[in-house]
Amino acid sequence: MSTLVAATTPTTPMIPVARPSIGEREELAVLEVLRSGWITQGPRVAEFERAFSAYIGCRHAIAVSSCTTALRLALLAQGIGPGDEVICPSLSFIATANSIASTGATPIFADIDPETYNLDPLQLESLITERTRAILIVHQIGLAAEMNALSAIAQRHSLPIIEDAACAIGSGYNNELIGRPIGRIACFSFHPRKILTTGEGGMITTDEDELAERLRRLRQHAMSVSDVARHNARTIATETYDEVGYNYRMTDIQAAIGLVQLDRLPGFLARRRALAARYTQALQSISWLECPTVPANCEHNYQSYMLRLTDGTPGTRDSIMQTLLEQNISTRRSIMAIHREAPYRSTRWEASLSVTNRITETGFILPLYHEMTEEDQDRVVDALHSIQL
Ligand SMILES: Cc1ncc(COP(=O)(O)O)c(C=O)c1O
Repeated sequence: MSTLVAATTPTTPMIPVARPSIGEREELAVLEVLRSGWITQGPRVAEFERAFSAYIGCRHAIAVSSCTTALRLALLAQGIGPGDEVICPSLSFIATANSIASTGATPIFADIDPETYNLDPLQLESLITERTRAILIVHQIGLAAEMNALSAIAQRHSLPIIEDAACAIGSGYNNELIGRPIGRIACFSFHPRKILTTGEGGMITTDEDELAERLRRLRQHAMSVSDVARHNARTIATETYDEVGYNYRMTDIQAAIGLVQLDRLPGFLARRRALAARYTQALQSISWLECPTVPANCEHNYQSYMLRLTDGTPGTRDSIMQTLLEQNISTRRSIMAIHREAPYRSTRWEASLSVTNRITETGFILPLYHEMTEEDQDRVVDALHSIQL
């Protein structure tokens, strides 16, 4: 443990684990909306949806207030509710399971592949029962799940796939962008830790016209004629509310930021991929660290760059993170294991999710953001190498 010596001076600036890139273009776009007289869901949201669906290459994009509300709507639109089971990974942010629980259904946790951190198709199939109503797949920290195998299982059991693509904007699978309709619906997040941010926000993509129409209504109190349509109408239009709906709207202020961020996305992705390659190049010689594995048919967006401790580590995961923090380098623990949090804790999951347990205990996330300099990255690399000595 004596090898974990901090070498910080009080003047060393803190390297954050993530930082959004918001510039003058985003500021001006927001100003324009603020001055337009329409600040909630309106023309900018519609424009953002069109630009997003064109980028992904799908028929419909439906903007909402977050990925959590996107997932909830996606599940509700499948008719999922009390008494139903939805299979998902436990190694994910808790929103994945909360979105299922919020419909009254029960999340059933499947274990993951130790290399990709994504659902293990074999274990998943053994969890399907007569109560299973959907499979909620996560493309974890921006690496696509094994969709061919998962889709084959879903088809065999006539189950819809919903993709939690919160972290997966710009990620690829078999030369297609995530969000193209492999499953029925994919849900993205624009939280500031994500690659494209609108502060908070989410997007649902699908190719199904009727489903898209229903999702558009549900996100807005299930009103039959939208407020924009009524605003623009030249004859009086009266709306009806034919089912229970929600206020999951994105604002035009957020969409204006999103449009600029979408335009900058190729640059963000290229920068992150270059920085990730640089990390791997510099860290792969450290025997007690495992760098990310990327299958040949996947293109990672490096939403997060997660390392894993292997055997012979010079300290615990937390002591290594603490050593880095004392050098003003911020890290985060691995993706959480949802089944270890109070609402979902049970001996069933603790016993059946051995890979999830191992990864959540040994993984940690390094700083990575669009504007990270190579000098800052070298500081992180040097700090890790000095732990080795
Ligand atoms: C895998 C996953 N799903 C869902 C969410 C929820 O996204 P949001 O914060 O937009 O609701 C997150 C957010 O971190 C996530 O990582």
